This record gives sequence, structure tokens and C-alpha cells, in this order.
Amino acid sequence: MNQVNLISKKRDGNELSEQELEFLISGYVAGDIPDYQISAFLMAVYFQGMSAGETATLTRLMRDSGIVLEHSALAGFAADKHSTGGVGDKVSLILAPLVAAAGLYVPMISGRALIHTGGTLDKLEAIPGFRTNLSMAELHEQLKKIGVVLVGQTDNLTPADKKIYALRDATATVNSIPLITASILSKKMAEGIDALVLDVKAGSGAIFRTKEEAWELGRKLVATADRFNLRVAALITAMEQPLGNTVGNWLETREAIDTLQGKGPADLTRLTLILSAQMLLLGNKAGSLEEGIALLQDKITSGAAFEKFLQIVQMQDGDVSLVKNPQDYPAAKFCYEYIAPRDGYVSAVDAREIGNISMALGAGRASMEDGIDYTAGIVLRKKVGDKVQTGEVLACAHSEDRQKLTANEERLNQAFSFSADPVPQPPLLYGLIDPDGEKDWDPDREEFVISQRGEE
Ligand code: URA
Repeated sequence: MNQVNLISKKRDGNELSEQELEFLISGYVAGDIPDYQISAFLMAVYFQGMSAGETATLTRLMRDSGIVLEHSALAGFAADKHSTGGVGDKVSLILAPLVAAAGLYVPMISGRALIHTGGTLDKLEAIPGFRTNLSMAELHEQLKKIGVVLVGQTDNLTPADKKIYALRDATATVNSIPLITASILSKKMAEGIDALVLDVKAGSGAIFRTKEEAWELGRKLVATADRFNLRVAALITAMEQPLGNTVGNWLETREAIDTLQGKGPADLTRLTLILSAQMLLLGNKAGSLEEGIALLQDKITSGAAFEKFLQIVQMQDGDVSLVKNPQDYPAAKFCYEYIAPRDGYVSAVDAREIGNISMALGAGRASMEDGIDYTAGIVLRKKVGDKVQTGEVLACAHSEDRQKLTANEERLNQAFSFSADPVPQPPLLYGLIDPDGEKDWDPDREEFVISQRGEE
């Protein structure tokens, strides 16, 4: 077999066999095939796509490039959630302890900040001392003891994805549906889970901006996961404006702490409950979405969900007293307030721009070696649909670096748009895909209903 022939075969739109894909992927991981040839192969996939069979084979090869966790010793179902990435998306920090408090095992392996979106690991590491690099023995022990663990990807977990993702990032081949599918599912399946809920975001702050592309990605993810007999559902959710009221590592962790105690913003609370309830449905802990939501709400009200979060922080060496007393966390040195320039209604808060500004204020890294300003970020006081009056504070930007703050003031102002007329509340989610079909979200009935989109 010869890699140049395989690259040209894909370039010309032909399907590669399992053996041919294995030759490319194992050759690349072993260092026998250079970056430039895999880059050419990735670009060929970007333009030509992959069949369902090829996507499943790539997923399997990437999953099996490292260790695959095994939880048969656990007395229950292991489940996880994965988001394709959004601005202000701190759902994992709330959902993992919440779902564990409701009786599922959650072995969550998360990533760091990507482009304009923050990463779960960075948000957790905003808690002083919190360790995300547990050994395999620690991971298994914690999962057995408290039912949940929140850690980072290790070198021996899907090394093929690590190498290929770095190349994709540098070769403009991230936005390929088969490549995203294989990347996400290989990592999640290496966790050894029985069920997976996917949060596929659509909008300005998402990997795909249009709903059509998000539905397409959701379909591919569900169809591929189903081939491996993984219980799966994908929710298509909105990412036009940030989720919740905060963007930036500690600001988001604090909002997650509030939400776990029943004091979170409505959109974040609602979406987290729906995603979590979907996990309970897949894991046979609830018979309907409504029942799942009620059970989870009870875990918040009773304090069980927050208690589970404290257990995670304790076991992963984080500062529990700061989590109990978040008001003691040192605030950023500098802050800029964006004041409403006119009366009216907020018609847009550009999620991607808010994410980029937050990164520029110090919440993200330009390269993996850079440090993070955990206090940097943005607090939104008004969101789409809210009425505003001249002189009201719309948003506060925080940073340890005055220059960074000054350089981004006008950008923050420009991220907001206004209307003189009332603006309806934007949708929170659009629908659901599972192996049985597709449903639309009905915001009035607060449930998924059989999709009418095909008949429009
Ligand atoms: N998230 C991933 O883990 N992989 C991708 O390819 C895109 C988003």
C-alpha cells in the first residue's frame, strides 16, 4: 500500500477500505507517514467527505489508537455529555455532579479552550488546587467512590485524535463533518461509556453557524454512534448569544456553583436540566423527559447536586472553602462597564465576538504554553429581548491587564445590537435526533414533538 495512492483515491472522491484507512492512521500515529501527507489526506476528506462506513472506521481506528476505559466493575450505567462548543457553555460543570447525584456514573473527559470558546478544564482549574490530570487508578477509584470524575485527555487516550486535531487546526480542516464526528466519538467512546448525549450548537458562537449544518452534524454523530451500539441522542441547541450571563473561567465556574444551588440564570438552568434529563432517559433512570427534569430539580433543591460538586472538588484537591464561599475569590483588578447608549431592546449579543473578547482579555491562550487570567471575562447584565434604558449597565468586562481592557472596550460595545421595538425571547433549543428519528422542540409545550421540517 502507498499513501500517495490513497490520498489521490480520496481526492478523486472514492471510498477507502478499512485496511487503507488503517494504513494511514496507524502509519501516522507511529510516525511512518509525515504531517504533510496526512494534511493532504485531511483536505481531501474536507472536500470529498466520507461514507458512513468510512466515518465509522475512522472513529474506531482513532478510539483504538490508545487505551479504552472499561467500567464493568461498576454497579450501574456510565454516561456522558459532549458539547460541540459554545460561548459561556459551563453546562458540564453543573451536569456532571447533577447526573451523578441522580444515580448515573459520569466519567467525563474534557478539553481546554479552543479558539473563541472556553474549556471545561480551564474553568475547573480556576478553583485553586483543582487537579484535572488524575492517574488511571485515581480516576477509577473516584468514579467508584462518588460516581463522577472530571479530567483531561491523557497522552494514552486517543493519541490519533490529538495528533490529527493539531494538524486540522493548522490546515483549516476543522469544519469537516466526518472529521468532527470521528474526533468527538473516538474520545467519548474511549471513556467506556454506555450512553452519550450530544449538544450540537448552531449560531454565531458555534463551530457551525447555520441550523442546517448543525442538524447534519447531529445526524452523522447519531448514525455513527448507533453503529457502535452506543445509546445516543443529539440535541440541536442555540448559540447566537452566550449561554448564561458569564463568559470567562472563574466567572463561569461561579455561575455553575450558583446554578447547582438553584440560583442560576434561566437559560443555563433550563438547558442543563434538559440535557441531564436526556442522559437519565438513556440510562433508564427516568421514563420521560418531564420525569427526569423533576428528579433533577429535586437534586438541586435538596442540595444533593451541590454536595456532589463539593465531593468532586475535595477528591481532586480543589479549594472547597472557596467553592462554598465564592465571594472570597479575588476579583480582577480592572473592570469596564458598557453603558446603554439608548432606550430600546437588545436585539443581538454576538456570541463569537463576546468569546473572542473574553479570550483577548486574558481568559484564553494564544498558544498551549501561555498562562490564563482566571478572573478575566465578561458579565452580561442584559441579553436578547431585554428592555434597556439609556445609562443602564449592559455588560462588565474584567481583566488583570488594563491595556487589554482598554483595547477591547469598543469591541464590547459593538457586540450588542438594539431595536426600538420589542424583541422576542430567542429560542434555547431547536430539536433532537436519536436513532428513531428527529423531533422539534416545542417551547410552549416544553417537549420534543415529531418533526414537521420535512413537510415545510
Ligand atoms: N470538538 C472535538 O473534540 N473535535 C472536533 O473535531 C471539533 C470539536
